Amino acid sequence: MCPPEYYEVAYAINPWMDTATPVDTELALKQWERLRETLTGLGHTVHVLTPEANLPDMVYAANGAFMVDGTAYGARFKHPQRTAEAIAHRAFYESNGWTYVAPAQTNEGEGDFAFLPDAYGGLVLAGYGFRTEVAAHAEAQDVLGRPVVSLRLVEPRFYHLDTALAALDDGAIAYYPAAFSEPSQRVLRQLFPDAVTADDADAHAFGLNLVSDGRHVVLNSEATGMAQKLADAGYVPVLVELSELKKGGGSVKCCVAELRP
Ligand code: ARG
Repeated sequence: MCPPEYYEVAYAINPWMDTATPVDTELALKQWERLRETLTGLGHTVHVLTPEANLPDMVYAANGAFMVDGTAYGARFKHPQRTAEAIAHRAFYESNGWTYVAPAQTNEGEGDFAFLPDAYGGLVLAGYGFRTEVAAHAEAQDVLGRPVVSLRLVEPRFYHLDTALAALDDGAIAYYPAAFSEPSQRVLRQLFPDAVTADDADAHAFGLNLVSDGRHVVLNSEATGMAQKLADAGYVPVLVELSELKKGGGSVKCCVAELRP
């Protein structure tokens, strides 16, 4: 995770961002701190990446890489405003002694990749259509040695896979069907017939942008409908307020890059 010390909406690269809407950086920091405490309170270890001035989106740490089996497949951002973030993430992985593979293809890390260790022996789900190039899916498969299933995103508000789909445990997912093309919806129904599905309200409240440890599901406090669906499915929803970070087009999951050493 990376604290939103220099967070602001200085440019607009997704439909949630509006440079005319003021951002309360102090409040963003408080909300982020609450999220970090929530995760450590649940027993997780959180490593903190040092934020850098002029990289306001660094708080969305999920976009910096995608790690599976101890190998981090690095990011290559689509928008020039975020390009330099990849360097900071690379330094982080390398300084911790993990294998880091620099990508040739445009991809936004865990924003567009999800890993399900128990689904079909270990499956990567990958989004494309807005940020990550589909060629990066093949590259990720080559680097990580895990099958990668490409899913096409079609709704501009759900520009990253992690805004529309989440791993709930090692083999189960929740997703918002309307964010995907018809053929991709069909693929998801075939692979995950028991998935928890979200409706428009759940998705617009960032209810899919969640972090789950298989039991506790940490999600945006506005996503009350989604929380109920998760409770009905046997999970324990844990709500956190992240109103300021929503203005940048992200929520819980965007702030967390999961380490799978
Ligand atoms: N403002 C950032 C962008 O548009 C938000 C990134 C959200 N991150 C995520 N993993 N969905 O790039």
